[in-house]
Amino acid sequence: MLIAGNWKMFKGPAETGEFCRALREADLGTVDVVVCPPYVSLAEAVTALATTEIGVAAQNVHWADDGAFTGEISAPMLRELGVYGTIVGHSERRQYFGETDDTVVRRINAALEHGLQVIACVGETEAEREAGETEAVLRRQVGAIRDGVAERDELVIAYEPVWAIGTGKTATPEIAQEAHAFVKTILDVPVLYGGSVKPDNAGALAAQPDVDGALVGGASLDLKSFATICREASHS
Ligand code: 13P
Repeated sequence: MLIAGNWKMFKGPAETGEFCRALREADLGTVDVVVCPPYVSLAEAVTALATTEIGVAAQNVHWADDGAFTGEISAPMLRELGVYGTIVGHSERRQYFGETDDTVVRRINAALEHGLQVIACVGETEAEREAGETEAVLRRQVGAIRDGVAERDELVIAYEPVWAIGTGKTATPEIAQEAHAFVKTILDVPVLYGGSVKPDNAGALAAQPDVDGALVGGASLDLKSFATICREASHS
């Protein structure tokens, strides 16, 4: 069971250091824990969490080792910082920054080749779910990863229905279970659930047989709620 906190564009280095030093002392149950701060805060998180089991991951990575790619960060650069993994293909990247199934696959391969663990995000929009296209969308997104990524030992999928992200509309445990089971028919890797995971729903979601953890956004920014989510997920 893996609980990852995606901080998105929150917490600069000072706040990150403070949060991570408190996280070291918190009761996080028995789950594996990862935090994903913004790039500028990664070094601070790595330092503050040194000698703990808590991993530090980035929120994105470029496919080239270096080059003329203004604003991008490469996998060797993340490794040099002591970062352990990265999120790839988050719906906010797909929605606002032109991320496609093709660029997602390129980023995943570069990350894996350089020894980073990858959390690759997939999920349907509300309009797609209402149109009955959930399985078609997942087949396309997960199928692209299956067809484009050969080495999958360090690959995890996060099923994040876009309609549940930041909306307070969590998928029911049944909806999550159904989607996770479907994803695994395409690509058999661990699947995290993401989308309005909170202390009061984390236990029921984590109890589903094909829910292997959670990718937590807003509720991971507060130490008490993040630690509670980790403990709730530990019970299931
Ligand atoms: P929220 O938990 O804020 O809905 O965000 C989910 C998410 O996007 C995690 O990557």
